[in-house]
Amino acid sequence: MLIKDKVALITGGAEGIGRAIALVYGREGAKVVVTDCNDEGGEETVAMINQAGGEAIYLHLNVTSLENHEAVVNAACQKFGRLDIACNNAGISGEFRLTGDHTPETWQQVIDINLTGVFYGVRTQINAMLKTGGGSIVNIASILGQVGLEEITPYVAAKHGVVGMTKNVALEYGTKGIRCNSVGPAFIKTKLVNNLPEEVRNHLSSMHALNRIGDPEEVAELVVWLSSDKASFITGNYYAADGGYLAR
Ligand SMILES: NC(=O)c1ccc[n+]([C@@H]2O[C@H](COP(=O)([O-])OP(=O)(O)OC[C@H]3O[C@@H](n4cnc5c(N)ncnc54)[C@H](O)[C@@H]3O)[C@@H](O)[C@H]2O)c1
Repeated sequence: MLIKDKVALITGGAEGIGRAIALVYGREGAKVVVTDCNDEGGEETVAMINQAGGEAIYLHLNVTSLENHEAVVNAACQKFGRLDIACNNAGISGEFRLTGDHTPETWQQVIDINLTGVFYGVRTQINAMLKTGGGSIVNIASILGQVGLEEITPYVAAKHGVVGMTKNVALEYGTKGIRCNSVGPAFIKTKLVNNLPEEVRNHLSSMHALNRIGDPEEVAELVVWLSSDKASFITGNYYAADGGYLAR
C-alpha cells in the first residue's frame, strides 16, 4: 500500500475526479477525509470507501470559506491526530463566453472557487502539516494551466494561477518537509463531459494523442503516487494526465 496509515484530505470528493482520488486514497491504506459542499455525494463516497474495507469520514467544506477550511482541518487532526496528504481538487468550469463578454460576476465565481479556494486550502493544510514534520499537497490544475482554450478565460487564468502558486509553496516549504505539485488533467469522463453530444465528445477525443477522453481513475493514480513517499524528490512541478493533449 502506497500511503498506509497516512491521513489524506480531498476537496470536491463527492463525485468525478475527487471521488476517484478518495477511493484510491482508501485502497492505498490512508485514513480518508472526504470534503465537499455536496453532502449527499460526499457521504456516498465515504460509504464506498468503508464498504471496500477502508476508513473514511465526511466533513462539509465550501472551498471559498477560509473558516470552513480551518474547521475541517482541525476536525481531521482531532479525529486522526495529523494531516499528511491533501489534494485541492474542487473546481468548476464556469460559463463559456468570449473574454469581452465575461462579467465581474462570471470572472469572480471561477476565481473564488478555483484559485482562492486552493489558496485557502494550501494555507490551512501547510500550517497543520508543519506541526507534524511535513506532508504532501497536490493541487488539481488542468491542461488549461499550460495552454489556453477559447471562451473560458477565468478558468484558464485560475488554473495558470494554481500552477504558479504550487511552485511557490514548494520553494517556501521544501526544507520544512512539505512537497507540493500540480496535476493537469485533459478532458476526463465526468458529468460535464459525459453530458456533451456524441459529436462533441468525438471531437474532444481527437485532440488527445490517445484519441479518447480519460477516466477519473487515470488522474487519481498519478495524484496518489505524487502524494506518496515514492515521489520523495518531486516537488514544485506540473504533471499532466492528458492522453497526449499537450504534445500537439
Ligand atoms: N473533468 C475534466 O475534464 C477536467 C479537466 C481538467 C481539470 N479538471 C479539474 O478537476 C477538478 C475536478 O473536476 P471534475 O471534472 O471531477 O468536476 P465535478 O463537477 O465532477 O466535481 C467537482 C466537485 O467539486 C465540488 N465543488 C464545486 N464547488 C465547490 C465548492 N465551492 N466547495 C466545495 N466543493 C465544491 C462539487 O460539489 C463536486 O463534487 C476541478 O478542479 C476541474 O477543474 C477537470
